[in-house]
Amino acid sequence: MSLHEIPEDIKKAQDLLAEGEVIGMPTETVYGLAARIDLPDAIKKIFTTKERPFFDPLIVHVGTIEQAQSLTSQWGKVAQALAEAFWPGPLTMVLPKSPAVNDMITSGLDSVGIRMPAHLKALELLKTVQVPLAAPSANKFGRTSPTTAEHVSAEFKAEKLFVLDGGPCEIGIESTVLLVKETEDKAELSVLRKGHVLPSDIEMVLKNIHLKFEFLEKIDKKESPGHMKHHYMPSIPLIVGTDKSVPAEELVKLASARIAELPQEIESVRIVKPAHGLKTFELMTLPEDPVLAARELYAQLRVSASTGKDCIVYYREDHADAERWEGLYDRLNKAASLIL
Ligand code: TXA
Ligand code: MG
Repeated sequence: MSLHEIPEDIKKAQDLLAEGEVIGMPTETVYGLAARIDLPDAIKKIFTTKERPFFDPLIVHVGTIEQAQSLTSQWGKVAQALAEAFWPGPLTMVLPKSPAVNDMITSGLDSVGIRMPAHLKALELLKTVQVPLAAPSANKFGRTSPTTAEHVSAEFKAEKLFVLDGGPCEIGIESTVLLVKETEDKAELSVLRKGHVLPSDIEMVLKNIHLKFEFLEKIDKKESPGHMKHHYMPSIPLIVGTDKSVPAEELVKLASARIAELPQEIESVRIVKPAHGLKTFELMTLPEDPVLAARELYAQLRVSASTGKDCIVYYREDHADAERWEGLYDRLNKAASLIL
């Protein structure tokens, strides 16, 4: 591609990244706070801008499978099959890292999380820059993830962050994070974070091409340090109701008493505790379809949090196709100050 063919916004993003800046980058899941992986000061700037502790590793975004391979010390048949089936798309694979990958990106782990985003602007940027981009979600640590360029600009207003505008995100919740451990004849897979790509989707792909694998439940702190009790929290408390027969007024009264007992901070994430307790609430609802509900979740949390009410109330439903709702409920449970 010759220089004059590069769109202006992509060129600006490319220049800022080359200067060691961080920028807002659209993806199909949520917006990312991106920096070049070959510029350590820029990587550091991701953590300081986001106020993210250094123990939580970053996902590296690639534009090609070759780039992904170059970040790893082992790329087996299962990694190749999953990349071919799900990339570009919302699947992050955690694989043995190449020594060339900066330890700051991986928080000192010997693995690296990699994905190829399914967003035209992100892919165009990656193709132009020709260096993979590390990018966590573009929100302050522990808070609600952004699904529009406006969300990112508002979150980093003080920093006057440049945001590459790619419109609203189609998926709306973060990628599925899959730990992949391959030996010669078999792969061990563990879902570290639930998302749009389901274990049943992965199973189907690998079974079809007769690759041996097994799913292991493994969410220990060492292998998945980003697993905090709370995350994605809106600026006012979210109360998740599990029993629809309990009226919201009663739920809020109960929550008001209980919230005072919560600590100021849980695993580095600040808990919002209104000093005067909870009286008024905004009832949040989501579409009946899990794909649409995920797409709207973070925007709804932001809108509900900006109503001037004391808290948000959302009632969980029991859905028949439970697997499809798991990613979304994982986010809601972590965003909630209380589940009652
Ligand atoms: O959809 C997404 O994945 C978005 C967009 C921007 O691509 N990114 C995102 O990044 O959600 P972030 O930083 O908010 O979440 C990354 C999480 C970490 O908290 C951690 O749980 C996991 O991915 N992760 C990354 N690298 C890992 C590694 N080497 N080992 C285990 N977990 C890792
Ligand atoms: Mg995040």
